[in-house]
Amino acid sequence: MTDLESIPAFDFPTSWRHGRGLASRSGEMLGRLGCRRPLVLTDESLLSLGVVEPVLASLGEAAIAYTVCDAVNYEPTVDLFDSIVARLDLKGFDAIVAVGGGSVIDVAKGLAVIGSFGGHIRDYAGFDKMPGVPSIKVVAIPTTSGTGSEISDGVVLIDEARQTKFLVISHKICPTVALTDPTMTVSMPRQITARSGTDALVHATESYISKGASPASELFALRAIELLARNIAAACDNGEDLDLREKMQIGATMAMTAAMNSKAGLCHALAMPLCALYHMPHGQAVGMALPVVLAYNAPAVGDKIDRIFQAMGFGDDGFSQLEGLLTQLGVSARLADSGFQEEHMPTIVQETMNSAQRPPNPREPTPEDIAAIVRRMV
Ligand SMILES: [Fe+2]
Repeated sequence: MTDLESIPAFDFPTSWRHGRGLASRSGEMLGRLGCRRPLVLTDESLLSLGVVEPVLASLGEAAIAYTVCDAVNYEPTVDLFDSIVARLDLKGFDAIVAVGGGSVIDVAKGLAVIGSFGGHIRDYAGFDKMPGVPSIKVVAIPTTSGTGSEISDGVVLIDEARQTKFLVISHKICPTVALTDPTMTVSMPRQITARSGTDALVHATESYISKGASPASELFALRAIELLARNIAAACDNGEDLDLREKMQIGATMAMTAAMNSKAGLCHALAMPLCALYHMPHGQAVGMALPVVLAYNAPAVGDKIDRIFQAMGFGDDGFSQLEGLLTQLGVSARLADSGFQEEHMPTIVQETMNSAQRPPNPREPTPEDIAAIVRRMV
């Protein structure tokens, strides 16, 4: 009999509400959760640009006293995380309202863990090390459309001392509530729209062909591919268009709903060493890998490649149309332009083989397969 653990499950712990202007109802949402002492976590530029203002005004209208921390100003390191923990009395908060991109929301999830259970964030690194669901609730209000952190089960931190990233993964740390409001994403510059949207497109695509895919995750993945691929270029060119922003945001959250439940694949396994070696943005790394990895996986996934290209709105020449879209988005650079050297190959191959995101890939690559994929990206 098949081990129950090996049968893909579909869990969705976060309460997801979507709508234009929803950020300005944050106070009402906190009231429903019974929270009165929130921390609002964001970054300096979002605060100074006024992006956070609808949230703060809403808390004020609800007579909720809040504290603002705008310290998540770069991709979070363990040191940055520790410095935020040191400056706040986390036990004094009953909720964290995270207004920002994936970095802000990831840090919020980590702070909820430390504020609820104590200890150091390294104590929780790995899979499901939580003693329970954190008592501090997280309300995530994304200002980008890409990482899906608003509903995901992960925290990613850069461990500078060990020159690597580490992950805290548990369904218990999924945000309590995700409020997706496209008006919060209009300030996103073109390049971030392109990279974060590409990341979401890769989440959906890798999820759809993953060994961990289930009927429900496939449904979310295909719809996400459709929304993202058909609207990403226009959203980059027309950032003020709320219809396009809305489609990208729904697509990104749906993409992570699928990916969280089926895990990723080779694009994400490759991205770890590529980003570390060449200081490449994550969305760029997974985007440049996508066509090559899809072609590699094609023999193992039946008609799923055709279904992906149909969802993208492409015809018979899907691979060249996908390449064209990625070029248009500016995420299709060659590895050679990023500083690739042949002597890096053993590291790239080894770290990709060791990645927890490799096993769900539909084909089981050998080290030689990975080297061949990398060479096609040079
Ligand atoms: Fe990603």
